[in-house]
Amino acid sequence: MKMKKVSAVNFEFSAVGFGCWAAGGSAIWNGSDDDETIRTIHRAIELGVNFFDVAPVYGFGHAETILGKALAGKRQNVIVASKCGLVWDDTHTITNDLSRASIEREIDDSLRRLNTDYIDIYQLHWPDPQTPVDETIETLNTLKKLGKIRHIGVSNFSVALADEARKYGQIVSHQGLYNMLERNPTQYHNIPLEYRTESEILPDCRQHGMAFFPYSPLFQGLLTDHFKARQQFDAHDVRSANPKLNGELFQTFYQMREKLLVFAAKIGKPLSQIAINWLIEQPEVISVICGAQTIAHIEENVGSTSWSLAEDMLSEIDQILEPYQDVIHS
Ligand SMILES: NC(=O)c1ccc[n+]([C@@H]2O[C@H](COP(=O)([O-])OP(=O)(O)OC[C@H]3O[C@@H](n4cnc5c(N)ncnc54)[C@H](OP(=O)(O)O)[C@@H]3O)[C@@H](O)[C@H]2O)c1
Repeated sequence: MKMKKVSAVNFEFSAVGFGCWAAGGSAIWNGSDDDETIRTIHRAIELGVNFFDVAPVYGFGHAETILGKALAGKRQNVIVASKCGLVWDDTHTITNDLSRASIEREIDDSLRRLNTDYIDIYQLHWPDPQTPVDETIETLNTLKKLGKIRHIGVSNFSVALADEARKYGQIVSHQGLYNMLERNPTQYHNIPLEYRTESEILPDCRQHGMAFFPYSPLFQGLLTDHFKARQQFDAHDVRSANPKLNGELFQTFYQMREKLLVFAAKIGKPLSQIAINWLIEQPEVISVICGAQTIAHIEENVGSTSWSLAEDMLSEIDQILEPYQDVIHS
């Protein structure tokens, strides 16, 4: 396993990490099986993966519970990043809440579900315009003093908001949407993004010695050999809400994928490994949090670290994607 480090935090991260959204259970993606997820997490650890990204809202607590079960007896060997700020009611309506009262509830629920007494990196999942940033960060500073969390990270934050947060406490990581085909995306599932990943967030990470964790690194499966162009995803599959995987926009992204598949065949590597290695090549990317639902997924994803993209390969990728710059950066 390749390991990566950053000055803001004293951990060595596996370059391939593990995103636990799909571990949220049967009502997400195409449905995941809990036992299979636990076996996949165990295989990931065997292969050297030490970074797990999760959130309370993934499966409304289920993903944290499954990760907690999988990590029994293994907790001290891994880095767990969870999140706060997206809460839900009895009807599963989700709202943004980064207030002190809400976070104080959320942290104890997360620790119980994860079956641990500390979270290594506690990330603010999405901004909450209703709560002053100082209230949020002061709350997290208290959680640090209590030993419930070790570090603070942000997710989907603009640089301006991160600057504001940094006035009140240390922020060690950014998490945001980033992959070969979404470099400066302006929206995620129709939610406008207040940040541009490549042109703003990566330089911010560089400047402050922070880690960057790219989400949807495989473009929700599009950047893998096994993606099937569906007429439409199941209604509960989160991908049905991604306009880039449905309708008119999808044709352009699918075209890029087809061209990259030709390149993948030429160099004899799976597309997923090319997508992951392209991210690993970016110095600010500290762990690529691929979602994996099966042992085959994680074995293929970790296989990326046994080779690298040479300069001429990176140039060829640039040439393939040159005609699509507008799409990639919007
Ligand atoms: N902070 C945020 O707001 C935010 C937002 C989104 C995600 N995230 C985090 O980022 C993580 C990853 O992002 P993501 O889940 O959106 O998408 P992703 O990692 O781009 O794609 C994951 C999906 O790709 C398919 N896949 C994975 N490995 C594969 C392989 N080797 N071969 C073939 N298919 C493979 C699987 O779906 P199928 O087999 O069903 O095709 C898998 O569920 C999440 O789990 C979560 O931790 C954070």
